[in-house]
Amino acid sequence: MKSWIEFWNSEHSIYVNERHKALHAEAVARDIARHIPGPDAVVLDHGCGEALYAENVASRCGRLILCEAAPNICVALAERLGSHRNVDVVEPMGVEQMPDGTLDLVVVNSVLQYLSRDMLEALLSTWRVKLKPQGRLVIADVIPPNVSPIRDATALLTFAARGGFLTAAFAGLVRTALSDYGKIRKQLGFSMYAEPEFVALLARHGLAAERVHPNFGHNQARKTFAAKRA
Ligand SMILES: C[S@@+](CC[C@H](N)C(=O)[O-])C[C@H]1O[C@@H](n2cnc3c(N)ncnc32)[C@H](O)[C@@H]1O
Repeated sequence: MKSWIEFWNSEHSIYVNERHKALHAEAVARDIARHIPGPDAVVLDHGCGEALYAENVASRCGRLILCEAAPNICVALAERLGSHRNVDVVEPMGVEQMPDGTLDLVVVNSVLQYLSRDMLEALLSTWRVKLKPQGRLVIADVIPPNVSPIRDATALLTFAARGGFLTAAFAGLVRTALSDYGKIRKQLGFSMYAEPEFVALLARHGLAAERVHPNFGHNQARKTFAAKRA
């Protein structure tokens, strides 16, 4: 496996069981909802994964556009949500092809660690032009350079203990460490950003960003940033 997209496109066990998936989806839905500006908002969820929260989020906005780069996930999303009243499923090229100035909110949760700097910079330019003048870009679960895999594991175990899937989480962590995920993480690493560096990077792309609380999901060692067109 040579890339993170290949990993996400494969069968994997990052979510240790159905309970983990359900609680993750519930948390992400709650966190996205906090940023939806109103019931008519057009929302892009870039790097949405399985998006088990999609129906929930779609019920709180005018239109939800799900963008996913892993082809197998994209096909499954289209099968599940293709006929949904206000959900569209697109590949990354579909975002490029959208008319400029049409989005109220772009959310990107737990994706940046898998993007090279060049890919991120290209996406920042795309997201900026697709936002309405008052639209907001919310990038969540950004990993600061000092956050170790051990801190990530501890955050998962704490979440699992509260959610009643601690044993499965222990087993899942071992499985993940020994899996392709562990190998790719060693080979490619994660892209990580310190807060001032990240805010400055967005500023260079015409986006005025600030850190907002809380972070999406269960790991508060990672950070969420909200930005608007400068
Ligand atoms: C950790 S998952 C996060 C999924 C979802 N955002 C969530 O919070 O549950 C990362 C997802 O980002 C997708 N992804 C990675 N790079 C991408 C890109 N350039 N464009 C679209 N999706 C991408 C991966 O395929 C994967 O499904």
